[in-house]
Amino acid sequence: MNKYIESNKKNWNERVEIHKKSKFYDVEGFLKGKSSLKSLELAELGDVKGKKILHLQCHFGMDSISLSRMGAEVTGADFSSNAIELARELAEKTGSNTRFICANVLELNYQLKGQYDIVYASYGVFCWIDDLNKWFEIASHFLKPGGELIILDGHPSNNLYEYNEEKKDIEIIGPYFNNKAHRYEELYTYTDGNVKMENHVEYEWAHPVSEFIMAAVNNGLNITSFKESPLCGWERYPNMKKKDEEYWVLEGKDLPFIFSMKCVKE
Ligand SMILES: C[S@@+](CC[C@H](N)C(=O)[O-])C[C@H]1O[C@@H](n2cnc3c(N)ncnc32)[C@H](O)[C@@H]1O
Repeated sequence: MNKYIESNKKNWNERVEIHKKSKFYDVEGFLKGKSSLKSLELAELGDVKGKKILHLQCHFGMDSISLSRMGAEVTGADFSSNAIELARELAEKTGSNTRFICANVLELNYQLKGQYDIVYASYGVFCWIDDLNKWFEIASHFLKPGGELIILDGHPSNNLYEYNEEKKDIEIIGPYFNNKAHRYEELYTYTDGNVKMENHVEYEWAHPVSEFIMAAVNNGLNITSFKESPLCGWERYPNMKKKDEEYWVLEGKDLPFIFSMKCVKE
């Protein structure tokens, strides 16, 4: 296991307990039957009833179980053992048959067999992946011919900006094209909870839009849809405005915060 994966795994294992208790994830509401899926992904996924879905980097499984509640047969995979343990606990509590596998996504083919109608992944997924082409190779490997890859994540241009406290606005810090590992020390995770983390060193990679397109092209995946949205699923900057129950927007900037991409396997 390389030092990047080892550090990221420790970081994600520690986040699970904080996320479990956060308002952001609202586990209590989820256990009462609330779906954790938001309108953008629901629109991309469409009717999943009867579909066999592989959910990559599923965290502690709320989205996977929400998909099962919609009638899909779901397998979720994540490299964090704490996340998978909690996912299994939630599946048991909710009487769900969602299956969970603990594995590095880039090595999932050694641990999982089968082919799926949909391979799905969303939000905060690709920044943890050094080799995007390999990720798409794995996704393609698990798709039936005619099966769909459906992904949504933070728009690659998000890496360009940072909030400037003095100016009370965002500014460009760049760069856009940079495929080196970025070392970050984030003492707090992105949810509420205000708990300082011990394992706060993490490594992330930036992937420009062209890399996503070429990763699909190189792995036998025909792109059927690519969308960019000004909506943001969390309050990324303090000058954002809440648009509705689910999303925030940065008024007057017309910047993309989320992208979604759908591909069909040849
Ligand atoms: C931001 S979360 C995914 C978000 C998910 N939609 C949610 O909010 O529930 C990112 C997930 O990627 C997982 N992850 C990061 N690198 C991974 C890797 N190399 N293999 C498998 N899982 C990985 C982390 O453990 C974490 O659960």
